[in-house]
Amino acid sequence: MAAPRGEFSSKLGFIMAAAGSAVGLGNIWGFPKEVASNGGAAFLIIYLAMAFLIAYPALMAELIIGRHAKANPVEALKVIANSDTSRTVGVVTGFAGISTACLILSFYAIIAGWMASNILASLSDMVGMAGLSTWFASDSIERSLLFTAVFMALTISIITAGVKDGIEKWCSRLMPSLLVILALLIVYVMTLDGAMDGVKAYLLPDFSRVMSPDLYISAMGQAFFSLSLGVGTMLIYGSYIPDEGNLVSLGRAVTIVDISIAFIAGLLIIPAMYVALNNGVQIYDANGALLAEDSLIFVVLPELFASMGGAGTFASLAFFVLMSLAALTSTISILEVPVAYTTENHKVGRKPATVIIGVAIFLLSTVLIYNFEVLFGLIVSVATQYGEPLVGLMMCIFAGWIFHRNELLKEIQKGHDGAEHGLFWKIWPNYVRFIVPAAILIIFSRKFFA
Ligand code: PHE
Repeated sequence: MAAPRGEFSSKLGFIMAAAGSAVGLGNIWGFPKEVASNGGAAFLIIYLAMAFLIAYPALMAELIIGRHAKANPVEALKVIANSDTSRTVGVVTGFAGISTACLILSFYAIIAGWMASNILASLSDMVGMAGLSTWFASDSIERSLLFTAVFMALTISIITAGVKDGIEKWCSRLMPSLLVILALLIVYVMTLDGAMDGVKAYLLPDFSRVMSPDLYISAMGQAFFSLSLGVGTMLIYGSYIPDEGNLVSLGRAVTIVDISIAFIAGLLIIPAMYVALNNGVQIYDANGALLAEDSLIFVVLPELFASMGGAGTFASLAFFVLMSLAALTSTISILEVPVAYTTENHKVGRKPATVIIGVAIFLLSTVLIYNFEVLFGLIVSVATQYGEPLVGLMMCIFAGWIFHRNELLKEIQKGHDGAEHGLFWKIWPNYVRFIVPAAILIIFSRKFFA
């Protein structure tokens, strides 16, 4: 365990990395998809409430535990534990987080691979290779295997380089590019006919939907997924924050960036759907509901791009580059979870650990690809609807009930003079002790008893 631990070189480096983890397919695909199928702004409002009131406090629990223990989730929860029982629960929770991370990466890398193959589809279109373009854009086992492998290889190569030279360096390059592409695409889509109908559909809530318990479960799951909670990612990134960093303001910054980018991505995707409608593309299914799931990204948007002529090919390229960048800064953060555990607890070097774990997760993805219909949806829901909220709940319990109050305050005071007088310290400790666990349990139990 004497191996030197990595550390982010600056506050900005941490924000880039953590926002890179948080901003991903969940923001640019998952969130608009949920908005489209759940009553527009009604979902948006509930999502904002879930993100600020439940996910943000849970994020702080992970960051604080992580920096205090300066260790991976299994070790960190052991450090906090104050009895044999809590130590055992900590180890189980840590492993549950690591397993959830591996499951998420196994399906996430497949979708990320589709995004990357669509980049090549657009490029082949540009050089007039229509046959090749069709192959890159259409679903096949070979395509999924090839591009999942490509994506995993990229992820492995960044994680092999470590915290500063891998994660921080690449997120600091990729995140600004992502923002520029997102902004350009929004400006472009807004100039097209039909976009304003989309803006209205996005921002005018259908309140008849707000009472459905399912909406709360989806919004909570989406908020946890989007902030990368309940798998140990944020705990580990927290463990790489230098002691001078003010955890309260850093956590706030990451939350605000993540939520804003989800909101802004909605301003791209929902109006784009209505532009597609305006261009004669079908955007409703047989029951009159907006096409959401996979067809939103892989059918509606490509048809929209195709209906736009030459400009459409550039828009398509920009869009899939955007998706791939967003996905890559997230996949690296997920792979870091099992890698950090293995290097710290089993004295394996970073490079072999990263390669072995990366290849093992790729093999899991292969199983999903060959048994797509049966396994894919199942793994997504086990990991995101059960794994993440439950591990997140345990992190809050550790922060609120097991972590000694004085130690907690000392951790927050590092890099934050006078933290004991601040609003955060007045509210958060009891909030994360009672309200957040209760809210997670209530929402969760409605899943079974509603
Ligand atoms: N937050 C990422 C997204 O929104 C997904 C993710 C989940 C990343 C869990 C890390 C850990 O796409």
